[in-house]
Amino acid sequence: MTSKYYIDLEDKYGAHNYHPLPVVLSKGEGVFVWDVEGKKYFDFLSSYSAVNQGHCHPKIVNAMIEQAKKLALTSRAFHNDVLGEYEKFVTDYFGYDKILPMNTGAEGVETAMKLARKWGYKVKGVKDNQAKIIFARDNFHGRTISVISASNDPESTSHYGPFTPGIVTVPYNDTEALAKQLEDPDVIAFIVEPIQGEAGVMVPDEGYLKKSFELCKSRNVLFIADEIQTGIARTGRMLASDYEDIKPDVVILGKALSGGQYPVSAVLADDEVMLTIKPGEHGSTFGGNPLACKVAIAALEVVKDEKLTDNAFKMGEILRAGLRGIDSDMITNVRGKGLLNAIVIKSKNGIDAWNVCLKLRDNGLLAKPTHGDIIRFAPPLVITENQIHECIEIIRKTIKECDN
Ligand SMILES: Cc1ncc(COP(=O)(O)O)c(C=O)c1O
Repeated sequence: MTSKYYIDLEDKYGAHNYHPLPVVLSKGEGVFVWDVEGKKYFDFLSSYSAVNQGHCHPKIVNAMIEQAKKLALTSRAFHNDVLGEYEKFVTDYFGYDKILPMNTGAEGVETAMKLARKWGYKVKGVKDNQAKIIFARDNFHGRTISVISASNDPESTSHYGPFTPGIVTVPYNDTEALAKQLEDPDVIAFIVEPIQGEAGVMVPDEGYLKKSFELCKSRNVLFIADEIQTGIARTGRMLASDYEDIKPDVVILGKALSGGQYPVSAVLADDEVMLTIKPGEHGSTFGGNPLACKVAIAALEVVKDEKLTDNAFKMGEILRAGLRGIDSDMITNVRGKGLLNAIVIKSKNGIDAWNVCLKLRDNGLLAKPTHGDIIRFAPPLVITENQIHECIEIIRKTIKECDN
């Protein structure tokens, strides 16, 4: 069967809620994926930073297979012999008292919002139904109604109202605006991405997170880091928050928590916050299932065993230097941290970022534009130095072809 067959099938029977690059993948291993015609590509998106450990990492796959043969799901109606082991492992790993396990990123953010509200009413003492959560503008936290209620992207919000109340937004990277909103005593939390991934890998000024954290502390407001895309070594630290030596009150993880092998998300917090939610007040049939737990333990072990944090940091430096060395006025900006990077493309000869991605595909590298003119470069963190150089050459060659 050809790529066209599969694309037509999706088009005919699937909702049209995505606009994928025309390539049909059927196999993945490490930094590589293959299409149904057998062509091999470097994966420079890593499923939006879910596949940090590389495609089909054998240790993660084996953990999954072994557990799948024993017990996949108990629901939380009963205990299982893996959940507690995972909870201990993951809270030690990230240094929090407790974890609340969920499945997808958006659910993790919803959970954090609920947790913050509960804490706001039970501990901070805000009057019922008055709590407000601050978000940074241009955020991306997922697609559920409450989460898009914090979005200012018309693609995310148009014709999906009415929205969840109790949300205010401030410009990203603006601590003065945040300080002003924090004067409202009904504010209970500030939810922020340490780097705005979907907005186009927007890296804030140094000190922004720390200052925001301190402002929140001074107002008894929870600082909540959405590390779903930036976490698990992606930016060259285990959490991007580590760059500024802050320990968020709540951390939301997803994506690479499973190495992309299974939907696993998590909310981490200390007891004062987490224990405000009581039995029966929140949950998910699949959250904390034994399969997810085993996969996540293996995925996190791989990150440490293979020193992926260091590798992401080093390879990121080489990648950005290489990209900055490409002599073309089509690239107007190169930015990022670790292996979460982006270039900004100025259209030329009718060739825009989408066309550049099509040519990158033809040259053996898969990436996807975000917000029209930005191309994110986020390969699996297992990428080697030789491979990074090879990829820089593919990108250089492609830009040259487009620039002519
Ligand atoms: C920062 C951030 N938060 C939340 C999400 C939503 O995750 P999911 O697609 O698993 O719901 C994403 C997905 O791209 C994200 O990048």
